[in-house]
Amino acid sequence: MAAGFIPQEIIDEIVARSDIVDVISEHLLLKKTGRNYQGLCPFHHEKTPSFVVSPDKQIFRCFGCGVGGNIFSFIMQSEGLTFPEAVEKMAQKAGISLPQQEMSENELKVLQKRERWYKINELTAQYYHKVLLDTKWGQKALGYLKNRGIDLHIIEKFQLGAVLSDWDGLINFMGKKGVEPRELHQMGLALPRNSEKGYYDRFRGRLMFPIWDHSGRVIAFGGRVLDDGEPKYLNSPDTPLFNKGQYLYGLHLAKGSIRQADLAIMVEGYMDVIACHQFGVTNAVASLGTALTSNQARALMRHTYQVAIAYDADVAGSNAALRGLDILADLGCQVRVVKFPKGMDPDDFLRKSGKEKFEELVMQGESFIEYKLFKAMENVNTSSIEGKIKVIQSILPDLAKIDSPVAKESAVKIIAIKLGLAEASIMDELRKYFREKQKFPQNKDRKQEKRENNIVNLRGFNKIQVQMLRILFEDNSIFPLLENAGGVELFTPPLDNVFQRIWKVYQVKGKVTGTDLDDKDSQLLAAILIGDFEITNTTKAAADYIKNLQINKLNKDYSDTIRELSEAEKMGDSEKLNQLLSRIEWLIQQKKLLAP
Ligand code: CTP
Ligand code: MN
Repeated sequence: MAAGFIPQEIIDEIVARSDIVDVISEHLLLKKTGRNYQGLCPFHHEKTPSFVVSPDKQIFRCFGCGVGGNIFSFIMQSEGLTFPEAVEKMAQKAGISLPQQEMSENELKVLQKRERWYKINELTAQYYHKVLLDTKWGQKALGYLKNRGIDLHIIEKFQLGAVLSDWDGLINFMGKKGVEPRELHQMGLALPRNSEKGYYDRFRGRLMFPIWDHSGRVIAFGGRVLDDGEPKYLNSPDTPLFNKGQYLYGLHLAKGSIRQADLAIMVEGYMDVIACHQFGVTNAVASLGTALTSNQARALMRHTYQVAIAYDADVAGSNAALRGLDILADLGCQVRVVKFPKGMDPDDFLRKSGKEKFEELVMQGESFIEYKLFKAMENVNTSSIEGKIKVIQSILPDLAKIDSPVAKESAVKIIAIKLGLAEASIMDELRKYFREKQKFPQNKDRKQEKRENNIVNLRGFNKIQVQMLRILFEDNSIFPLLENAGGVELFTPPLDNVFQRIWKVYQVKGKVTGTDLDDKDSQLLAAILIGDFEITNTTKAAADYIKNLQINKLNKDYSDTIRELSEAEKMGDSEKLNQLLSRIEWLIQQKKLLAP
């Protein structure tokens, strides 16, 4: 187990007292089908259930998107927790207290360090906040916010702050709290001096925005200049707590409203999110000026499948919107793109036109295909035949992505109108596109391929090895038998690694279940273990499979040895030659013994 500082007995106790079906049922509706349970996958958008939970093996697996694992991986993925956090949560639920004193000293240190990091960030946010409210420089920053229409309750809600322009304001303040500059450096809050010893504050003379993880702990900061200085924003670097592509700004504040509205509004900047909240649009989050990552998209999709991308109406914003659109649409999200008047961002628009007009604009956002069409028609003369063909060719892959026949029909209508073509000829082109794609599967668009590659594909694995692993889980008493017959030698990568790991667990505990797998293996193993597995006589089946594995192994050794033999012949190495010949003799004997 990857638990590190949590004793295995405790994890076993948690597992014994928890049931994966109960835990997952808190997140989605599960229906019993035979030995397993089924439901709609919470990790991707689907209409027919392909998410399967096995109470026997205590694992889950989605046949649609490929996620899978045990009770801990489920909690980790559905709630965005680390492994120790997931264990802690399950322990609480099961009424088990985690005995801190049983951790090794080193393990305890790691945990305490992390807690301290959170504390340092929280204290820093408090310090900046106090500077904003209580200092002269803070008055200037407050005036700036007031000027932009931000009032005190929003300042509190977003824990906004300010920082003086001196070089060691934070370092001195934290020093009094017993925090070393070295620790501030680790958190990206201080930098080492170039010429002499010591450190200086990273953020100076700025308006400060704390950045939170999705459960609301401060993990980083962004700082804005109050004038036209450069850079406009300075952000924390990646630290042990913060990783840019991982978090959406304001999600912990917005998630309730996002669920309620069943819609998330994705904006680019800190100030856009804050302005949205100021105007009562509380379902807004920001990707913070960087390209939206699929991790961020997934975090959002735990709360809704409908997203309105409301990026700035400039070239950078429109390109970023296009990328975000693809990422979200590929994950099965219903996306629309909100178009603001030229040069405006959500903040500008709200201040100029107010909440109602803003919400109208959001509702009028362009659908996936409309936006794609708009982009495809940019800089193309669509009154010429060549122009029309060019646009049609570039839009076909997107059109082909639309699953619902109704949505597809209306998309075709839109394209027909915009290009002045008959719907029938667009449908013809689409059919032709599908035919070509079947003929040349390598033409599959790269994104789709990527998606497919992410799914653990069992077709590539050795069937006998897969079946052997299933038998082992079905009947743990087979382990010693298999080990005697050759154990890990009988497997090839990557399943040899999987076997090695579960064999170790078996040696320690005398049994193995789905919950014994660590994160690295659990997805692969869930894929292997779930499914219709009906072998009544496991001992007999095991004997057959072991024999098969041994024969395969002998065949492989045989052909390897033959290869070595011809090498040795070439080299004229007679001693080696004799050695190899007698090995071949032995291999043939062994094969005869197994399959007379
Ligand atoms: N950004 C950044 N560094 C910069 C510029 C922008 O990190 N030098 C990020 C910030 O997260 C910012 C977002 O990109 O919030 C969007 O940029 P921009 O539209 O320029 O900022 P706004 O939040 O709209 O700020 P303002 O309205 O004050 O200009
Ligand atoms: Mn702005």
